[in-house]
Amino acid sequence: MENRPKIIVTGGAGFIGSHTVIELIEAGYLPIIIDNFSNSQEWIIDRMCILTQSKITYYSVDCKSYETMHELFSGLGDIAGVIHFAAFKSVGESVASPLKYYNNNIISLATILQLVLDFKIPKLVFSSSCTVYGQANQLPVTELTPVKAAESPYGYTKQVGEQMINDTIKEGAVILRYFNPIGAHSSGLIGELPIGKPENLVPYITQTAIGIRKQLQIYGNDYNTSDGTCLRDYIHVVDLAKAHVKALKFLDDNNTTETFNVGTGKGISVLEMVKTFETVNNVKLNYKIVPRREGDIEQIYADTTKANSILKWKAQYGIKEALRDAWNWELNIQQMKLSA
Ligand code: WQD
Repeated sequence: MENRPKIIVTGGAGFIGSHTVIELIEAGYLPIIIDNFSNSQEWIIDRMCILTQSKITYYSVDCKSYETMHELFSGLGDIAGVIHFAAFKSVGESVASPLKYYNNNIISLATILQLVLDFKIPKLVFSSSCTVYGQANQLPVTELTPVKAAESPYGYTKQVGEQMINDTIKEGAVILRYFNPIGAHSSGLIGELPIGKPENLVPYITQTAIGIRKQLQIYGNDYNTSDGTCLRDYIHVVDLAKAHVKALKFLDDNNTTETFNVGTGKGISVLEMVKTFETVNNVKLNYKIVPRREGDIEQIYADTTKANSILKWKAQYGIKEALRDAWNWELNIQQMKLSA
């Protein structure tokens, strides 16, 4: 068993990281988590051990500290790859605290890149975002759609991150541009754990449905879309996790650096998300249309041809499964609080 390829997963206790660790284990890899738990909880790792019936090695370390990370990497023997999730990801928070984002997201990536070079690690997978496109002139967006001036420091850290990788790693890196990750593992044991008031749509929906939030505010219905609300490409977090395994396998046979859109290819409106949530979960949602949120783009969804054909990856789940799993997870968190 111990000849499984070791994959370092920074931010591996986070929302997408935890789901990816599950898929890595199921695909025969040996994931090693590095997480400073600034935006995740250690008990999530216990849940991951239950889910995979295995012991998962993790280190509570901040990716920005090169010395600590170098010492850690030195003791790990052969490292087959690194998946770098560790970053702050709130658009709104990044506008309020830009330096927090530049310091954390850029320095941690620079440290990881140095370590990849130091230890000649053959594979790097980086979590980027569709936010790099801004409001594209043409939809769906392909990987060749021009990257626009970022609308937030968060978006800018993703654009700079992609450039840093393309400048540093000529062979052996995959950049995954996530669209909107939603949902949770069908077991209800792991999922998204927003700190405080959720900024993103789906956790706000589930917290409203369960009564933590009074009312969902829908930011604007005066956009140039079918029902006036914004369109996004919502991708089930498990589909997204599987794309990372495919990215590692792609790098087994291709000594190159490539960028891929990871979405479903469908643009879904906010109102459609609300109605679908109510239908699949048989709950009524209290919501109100309010003015637009600053910085929101009108619509974006992915052309996923490149990932489908080259990564041999395609999203299997739709918003119904994702919204069912998101609700199941919210109910689980509530259950846990009640029994605590
Ligand atoms: C989606 C839609 C809102 C909350 C950002 C990042 C992206 C990724 C996901 C990290 C928009 C509307 C939302 C609410 C609402 N980040 N909305 N009421 O802004 O598309 O993407 O988060 O993984 O990189 O750019 O996601 O979920 O915040 O918003 O009406 O209470 O839902 O206006 O149209 P967004 P979101």
